[in-house]
Amino acid sequence: MKQNIIDIAYLVSGIMFIYGLKRLQSPATARKGNQLAALGMFVAVVATLFLQEILTPIHMLMGAVIGAGIGAYLAKKVEMTGMPELVAAFNGFGGIASALVAGAEIARFMAPNAHITGGEHLEAVSAITISLSILIGMITFTGSFVAFGKLSERISGNPMSFPGMRLLTILFVLGSVGSMIWMAMESSVFPEVSDPVVYGAIFIAVAGALLGILLVIPIGGADMPVVVALLNSYSGIAAAATGFVLNNTALIISGALVGASGLILTNIMCVAMNRSLFNVLVGGFGGDSGGATGGGVSTEGMTVNSTTADDVAILLSYANKVIFIPGYGMAVAQAQHAVRELAEELIKKDVQVKFAIHPVAGRMPGHMNVLLAEANVPYDQLFEMDEINGEFETTDVAVVIGANDVVNPAARHDKSSPIYGMPILNADQAGTSIVLKRSMRPGYAGIDNELFYNSNNQMLFGDAKESIQAVINEVKQL
Ligand code: TAP
Repeated sequence: MKQNIIDIAYLVSGIMFIYGLKRLQSPATARKGNQLAALGMFVAVVATLFLQEILTPIHMLMGAVIGAGIGAYLAKKVEMTGMPELVAAFNGFGGIASALVAGAEIARFMAPNAHITGGEHLEAVSAITISLSILIGMITFTGSFVAFGKLSERISGNPMSFPGMRLLTILFVLGSVGSMIWMAMESSVFPEVSDPVVYGAIFIAVAGALLGILLVIPIGGADMPVVVALLNSYSGIAAAATGFVLNNTALIISGALVGASGLILTNIMCVAMNRSLFNVLVGGFGGDSGGATGGGVSTEGMTVNSTTADDVAILLSYANKVIFIPGYGMAVAQAQHAVRELAEELIKKDVQVKFAIHPVAGRMPGHMNVLLAEANVPYDQLFEMDEINGEFETTDVAVVIGANDVVNPAARHDKSSPIYGMPILNADQAGTSIVLKRSMRPGYAGIDNELFYNSNNQMLFGDAKESIQAVINEVKQL
């Protein structure tokens, strides 16, 4: 009876996850989708803990209060600019949680006479699922924290490599596979957990931790979005593997959903960067991916036109069509509300306004959509790169707000550039492009941008929010 209730609760939570995920497809329904999925997780957690009597109600309440407290604190404290690294850290915690649960399963089987008292022993299949869960969980853990360091600029975003790195990686992979086979063979022979199983699990945990680091350090610059999406997927796969270890349907469903959607996202990021996953990973391991500082057309001796808020206001107010291109700098400046206000002022003047979203703009998938949704920019003004790229030729002004790599024409023709081949937003094809940034410093990929030196480009130097606000003040007076 109790098991039936648990199974039904898991089924309900699985349906909530799937509907929640479905609703994430559109910004209009995404918030509700997120809430529905969170409710689904709550149902699954309560079913597991309460109905299986793993914890007393008091313990559960304590856990809920502590967990909700940390969640609420982070949600309030973390700036929107810190979101990408927070998401990376969450992925990492998901990974270590899976690895720890799998490790605890081994400890459970190690209890004296566990196979006799509990009537169960570690079977070969369980040994494999446990070791997979530990391996993928540890890769996700350390890989995500290296990504956290790179995204928060605590460690260099440049690709890093050292001689023998590829060999070391191959050795760890082979060692882990060997340990898995060894653990499975031992488990099929001895009913109780033997020393080799424990040593194998420890080796896999250490190898997984090192593999996570080796996977992410050689990838840098513009290829990071692919890795961020891949780690997202790994955290789901690790959770699904743990679901098999625990025989927990809800964990299998939620892990599989995260794993599969992460893989789809990885594919979207690969398409956005015009890279194959194999190239990103193997190119990184080869240590010859160009580097964040490599490539770039020489712009020495070239000059840029700088402009003022007054001139930009005049240009925008008398334009027929304006496209805004937001980038990471808009997130740093928290300029999204000001940008929405400027768009509204221009629309009042009968200017057609659109927003062009590059899939890897910012520092996390969907970063720009999240910011613009937060500022209540109507969804029908947002356009994906493929939808809008053909329109720049008929656009009077393209306003680049803290974006850099995603509008760098070097991606089209400079084979030595680390972003070569990445489709870009065609800001250079608009009648005039205006770039809002604070200096001539490069973006994430670390390369100079030829767009800034075009004769029809103007730079409006300064913090994006302050610049936009100055432009709004002028537009209102025209
Ligand atoms: P970036 O190329 O990183 O350029 C951002 C620009 O914003 C910088 O050049 C910076 O110039 C400017 N900026 C910073 N603070 C500003 C402020 N307060 N006001 C005005 N401007 C400011 O950004 P992007 O075009 O969005 O491209 C994204 C890059 O990040 C790509 O290379 C992408 O591959 C990489 N990346 C993306 C992700 C995901 S998943 N989206 C993850 C990791 C890496 P100043 O310093 O001169 O102001």
